[in-house]
Amino acid sequence: SQTAADYIRSHIRTVPDWPQPGVQFRDITPLLQDPRVFRVLIDQFVHRYFDTRPDVVAGLDARGFILGSVLAYELNVGFVPIRKKGKLPFTTVEETYELEYGSATVELHTDAVKPGDRVILIDDLIATGGTMMAGKRLLEKLGATVIEGASIVDLPELGGSDKLREAGLPLFTLVDFA
Ligand code: PRP
Ligand code: HPA
Repeated sequence: SQTAADYIRSHIRTVPDWPQPGVQFRDITPLLQDPRVFRVLIDQFVHRYFDTRPDVVAGLDARGFILGSVLAYELNVGFVPIRKKGKLPFTTVEETYELEYGSATVELHTDAVKPGDRVILIDDLIATGGTMMAGKRLLEKLGATVIEGASIVDLPELGGSDKLREAGLPLFTLVDFA
């Protein structure tokens, strides 16, 4: 019989040469579109964290919001968004990180977590790991502890997941693509 990971993998669409030539884009929208797959997907994360019971789920802009809000709801804990710069209205902390070309800045509301909060940080995919690393730093600036990073997809050849683990962040990912 097919494993949950295989079922999930078979519903990730690969779009060649998007957003630029040479990139094989791993598109998770088919996972969300089919209610049977969506439930299997979310249940992987719910089962993983049901006993651990974090204080907060933090989601990374933008696809981490979709996963993280449902996960938080199922765990009966709060959800906080980590957003691209310029979107959050209240006072924020910010973190800038390097992209292949240029840089990006993400923000978090200063009252999003409290010192000592145990946080699960979630996104759809880990590539270079820069986005998740920036999220971890933001949460730590406010005194929270990121107990695990979670994502559907890891692209291990890009080195991001190794870098995150070396930085002391345990990871839970469902599907690898070379
Ligand atoms: C993608 C993806 C992750 C990030 C992973 O988001 O959803 O958030 O890149 O890459 P990294 O590990 O190299 O940081 P994208 O920048 O496409 O933003 P979007 O979700 O707003 O489309
Ligand atoms: N899919 C989604 N987000 C991404 C990808 C991808 O293949 N590569 C880098 N960010």
